Amino acid sequence: MSDALIAAAINAMPLAYAPYSQFQVGAAIEDENGHIHTGVNVENAAYPVGSCAEAGAIAAMIGAGGRKITRIAIAGRGVFLCTPCGGCRQRIREFAPADIDILICDEQGLRQRFTLAELLPHSFGPDNLG
Ligand code: THU
Repeated sequence: MSDALIAAAINAMPLAYAPYSQFQVGAAIEDENGHIHTGVNVENAAYPVGSCAEAGAIAAMIGAGGRKITRIAIAGRGVFLCTPCGGCRQRIREFAPADIDILICDEQGLRQRFTLAELLPHSFGPDNLG
């Protein structure tokens, strides 16, 4: 596991607050300055109020002054790939061009790499508003 971004996502994962789903997710964003920002899912007894790991990592990036996502790693356990939910694909799109790498990981390391365009084809983003 030589990639610091992947390591950051994996290290964040066990810090998630997921008492209801038991499904912990860690996300790590690399910004335009090379800085890494992490986030975890934070669930709530009022289920819809919970938030995804990607949303937390984006909030951390914005709060630290970053404005562009250059790569993102997402780590979660299970048989299936821990790909970002539909809402988080759009959240990522707000701060990233279509060609960035999305690195899908589990606790062992990288499982599969996608571009944002592969996960969110023909996306609607800031450019659409002129
Ligand atoms: N989850 C994420 O944090 N990111 C995703 O993209 C997929 C789902 C979280 C939300 C919830 O806390 C748990 O995983 C189960 O859906």
